Amino acid sequence: MSNTRTWLVANWKMHGLASEAADYAFRVNQALGQAPSNIAMVFCPPSILIPAAVHALPGNARLGIGAQNCHAAEKGAFTGEISAPMLADAKVGYVILGHSERRALCHETCAQVRAKADAALAAGLTPILCVGETRDEREAGKTQTVLEKQMQAFAGLDAGAILIAYEPVWAIGSGHTPTTKEIAAAHSTIKSALGSDGVVLYGGSVKSTNLREILDTPGVSGALIGAASLDAGGMETMLSIAAEKGNER
Ligand code: PGA
Repeated sequence: MSNTRTWLVANWKMHGLASEAADYAFRVNQALGQAPSNIAMVFCPPSILIPAAVHALPGNARLGIGAQNCHAAEKGAFTGEISAPMLADAKVGYVILGHSERRALCHETCAQVRAKADAALAAGLTPILCVGETRDEREAGKTQTVLEKQMQAFAGLDAGAILIAYEPVWAIGSGHTPTTKEIAAAHSTIKSALGSDGVVLYGGSVKSTNLREILDTPGVSGALIGAASLDAGGMETMLSIAAEKGNER
């Protein structure tokens, strides 16, 4: 992935209905059309809303569509699961994998996240791979070790074909964010594992009031946004902040 671009990824988690996803995709894509070409945006609604979002977009849309998970197998007896080829068939270009909510609630391991990343890449999707430490791990001074261990699972992947999202677990949905110095240090650890060409986004309580300073932090190529991404108006504001940055380049 190009790290001369600024990325905004909207993670709707389990929110929204089809009509809302369609309106949002249409509106945000229009706003993205006004932004410099080095701004990239991906909308990740719940899987069942993906067709509505895709159908709302014009043929020349710049907005990418992402899923929030996939299975590692191409097909099989896995009730309730969705495979990477199915996502690609639905015109999905990206998939968030290893989000801490799934690592915690669904007990996803690093090895399982890697297997899903391999499946996504094989299907032509760009995985957005999430890593990050818990509050306890940070307070015990283990942030770097945890990030290195999580990044080991992605060893050998083509850094140009993936996006990494640094999401401290304690910052997600909490209203708390690390200092920009802490974000820069974490991104530097991740980049050492990934290679300097890698793209690393920051996620965890990003909103329009802190986006600018986060995007200005060394090593940060964009943001993965949860709660604050739900509202199209808020997303338009964040796109205009990213666009200012894009214009400076
Ligand atoms: P948040 O979520 O922006 O609501 O903290 C981010 C995420 O979980 O990806």
